Amino acid sequence: MNIGKLNDIPVLGSRVVQTERGEIAIFRTSDDAIFAIANNCPHKEGPLADGIIHGHKVTCPLHNWQINLENGEAIAPDQGCAESFKIEVDTDGNLLLNI
Ligand code: FES
Repeated sequence: MNIGKLNDIPVLGSRVVQTERGEIAIFRTSDDAIFAIANNCPHKEGPLADGIIHGHKVTCPLHNWQINLENGEAIAPDQGCAESFKIEVDTDGNLLLNI
């Protein structure tokens, strides 16, 4: 599904999309990569879109777990996984989320 333009999301920013699969958080990293994972931390469902992005990770705003944006997995020693989704940018700068 087309969820808007890449430029609607600032570098190191995020936004939340409501889908039939629940809330999905879209992240733009400092190297201009885009990632999509469920907006529920695998620990206690903290809103990952409100976390701090660093590298290809986000730190959950509730208890500071770090989540790998590439696959949704918690960084050890924490364990758990948020569902991740495929997202790409087309030649017109549209964000296409595959759910
Ligand atoms: S809910 Fe994310 S670290 Fe606890």
